[in-house]
Amino acid sequence: MSQQPLTVEQFLMANPPASLGGAGSLTALLSAIGLVGKTLARDLRIAGLLNMLGMTGETNVQGESIKKLDQIANDTFIEVLQRDGVAGALASEEMEKPVFVASPGRPAPYMVLFDPLDGSSNTDVNMPLGSIFSIIEHQHQDQPPEDSDLLRKGIHQLAAGYFLFGPSTMLVFTTGKGVFGFTLDPTVGEYQLSHPGIKMPSRGKVYAVNEGNYEKWPTGTKRYVDSLKKPDKAAGRPYSGRYSGCLVADVHRLLLGGGIYLYPGEINKPEGKLRLLYEANPMAMVVEQAGGRASTGVTRILEIEPIKLHQRVPLIIGSADDVRDAESYIQERAVLS
Ligand code: AHG
Ligand code: MN
Ligand code: MN
Repeated sequence: MSQQPLTVEQFLMANPPASLGGAGSLTALLSAIGLVGKTLARDLRIAGLLNMLGMTGETNVQGESIKKLDQIANDTFIEVLQRDGVAGALASEEMEKPVFVASPGRPAPYMVLFDPLDGSSNTDVNMPLGSIFSIIEHQHQDQPPEDSDLLRKGIHQLAAGYFLFGPSTMLVFTTGKGVFGFTLDPTVGEYQLSHPGIKMPSRGKVYAVNEGNYEKWPTGTKRYVDSLKKPDKAAGRPYSGRYSGCLVADVHRLLLGGGIYLYPGEINKPEGKLRLLYEANPMAMVVEQAGGRASTGVTRILEIEPIKLHQRVPLIIGSADDVRDAESYIQERAVLS
């Protein structure tokens, strides 16, 4: 008889992460985050039947139109994690200010930063979506959080991960000891370990970028993307283009098969689009833990000192050798062929 795969809780019991404020508290938090993912997976599956598609008519702090599902996903994170208690502060791409979770007499040693719904242009067309989370230490547990409490470099993350809502729902995370992927078995209601110890190939054959922005890029970025299309059998070129509009889905493909994702800086928007604290940092921790690399093209993502909560950052992420190549073009060190 085949062996039953481990659930998240069983896996964490066998591989306990360092927990703040008492044994098992990080396991409890990851388990609560798991419940958020199960709830969202259920909602997304039948969103088209429940009047959950389309816009709310409002705009978020970043000036982006809020979809109904962005709001529902944000509320789900807040409700579930508030009830849970071990997260004392919650910060989201969709909220101007972090939420304080008062838990008198109980330690609340963590803060969670999240992108509740990633790839939201995919909502109305039944394409893949994700959610991304980052867990850091809550240093001043008795006080409402200031933005400055959340402005920690990515290297200080205790854990990070994402949900991928595709044909299967997957939870992929790291607590700093490798990357583990779990697939939700909805009939059992549990995530089960399906992808243990994920390691990225050091080079891939796929690139993911919104090439509609080509004319907005600096020369080095253009030359790098051009180089991927130049046939060279020995070098594995041309690369295949694969872009879904969902960072999680695109990076998940790279995590398993190798390659590179770019949301680069633009001449008139050098900060790029993606958010450092909710998107770049957690995805960078996962990718580095799997042996990959993540940078702005110049600086390692996890070493960036954040200066504001909703800071944007260029993101070049994926297989280590591919990201190194992109860096050398962006820094104009590459010898042009
Ligand atoms: P979000 O839905 O959280 O705003 O993130 C969307 C992000 C990312 O998932 C995706 O790779 C990228 O934005 C797509 O942007 P473009 O439509 O500009 O390519
Ligand atoms: Mn996003
Ligand atoms: Mn989002």
